[in-house]
Amino acid sequence: MNKKILITGSTGKVAEAITTLLLREYPDVKLLLLTSDIKNIKPTKRSSVFQAFYENVKWLKDFVINHKPDIIINCAAMTNVDACEDEKEKAMNLNASLPETLSIAAKKINSHLITFSTDYIFNGKKGPYSELDTPDPINYYGKSKLAGENLAKGNTQKLTIIRTNVVYGKSSYGKNDFIKWVSDKLDNKEKINVITGQWCNPTFTDDIAWAVSRIIETKSYGIINLSGKDWLNRYEIALIVAEVFDYDKNLISPLDPSKLSQKAFRPEKGGLIITSAEGLLGIKLSRLKEGLTTLKFQLNEYEI
Ligand SMILES: NC(=O)c1ccc[n+]([C@@H]2O[C@H](COP(=O)([O-])OP(=O)(O)OC[C@H]3O[C@@H](n4cnc5c(N)ncnc54)[C@H](OP(=O)(O)O)[C@@H]3O)[C@@H](O)[C@H]2O)c1
Repeated sequence: MNKKILITGSTGKVAEAITTLLLREYPDVKLLLLTSDIKNIKPTKRSSVFQAFYENVKWLKDFVINHKPDIIINCAAMTNVDACEDEKEKAMNLNASLPETLSIAAKKINSHLITFSTDYIFNGKKGPYSELDTPDPINYYGKSKLAGENLAKGNTQKLTIIRTNVVYGKSSYGKNDFIKWVSDKLDNKEKINVITGQWCNPTFTDDIAWAVSRIIETKSYGIINLSGKDWLNRYEIALIVAEVFDYDKNLISPLDPSKLSQKAFRPEKGGLIITSAEGLLGIKLSRLKEGLTTLKFQLNEYEI
């Protein structure tokens, strides 16, 4: 793959997995890494790092048009669901205007735009959801991500929207996620109450990275669901984390979902159906135990 690839949100979990895979598997790839905090990332021979101003539409458009990447992978987003309720303008800027601007610039330079969305665009009454189900977001994060999908779709055909959910994986930049929260608490021998609701399919960042490389190679456009194979509630996920990492399962107690108070509403039965992604891309998405077993190995390797 002899391509110049622009990645936004480079310190994020998904961006890190994609960057690692592209540099490891494709010796001819050159990366342009955009980040809002440039001191975090070191450039390498094949990756340059640039300070990003995601909310400055003119700067972003000019940056893309001047650098002419073959592929743009938009991983930047405001992902804190509760914070999106409080900072609606920022959520709209990052989750909707950013993919919109990238789609306009991508069209101008005939570049393929890959951007990420979420199962939170659905109301959670009847998940898991296929690519054809009708969105109906119940929180501002979901609304802003759906707006991002629709705005980008209006500007370019060479567009892939990857919908995913409950992402986990290694982060060198200290990014948090539900599985890391469970793992950190149990590692500290703290008791946790975990709801027996908010069904989802936890997704390993390494699987997303493989899928993205296949999307680039096969020029697959449109909406693609990418998730782990298991559809589980949060309590079930916590038990599997304990099993794989050898933590004490007795530290985990089930909690009725109605007892958890969160600022933003969450879909109760969320998650995604992934049969079309596996067929289209020829990939195998991991079950939670498989992904966690690989992650455990990666984390041990990292500590040594
Ligand atoms: N995590 C999940 O469970 C999940 C579920 C469904 C969908 N998704 C989608 O998948 C994509 C990648 O998510 P991820 O899990 O890799 O996200 P992440 O770890 O939170 O990273 C997002 C990155 O966006 C950039 N960013 C810019 N402004 C930000 C702001 N105000 N708040 C937070 N981040 C900001 C940061 O990178 P720089 O500072 O380096 O620019 C940050 O590292 C996003 O589009 C997200 O909506 C994620």
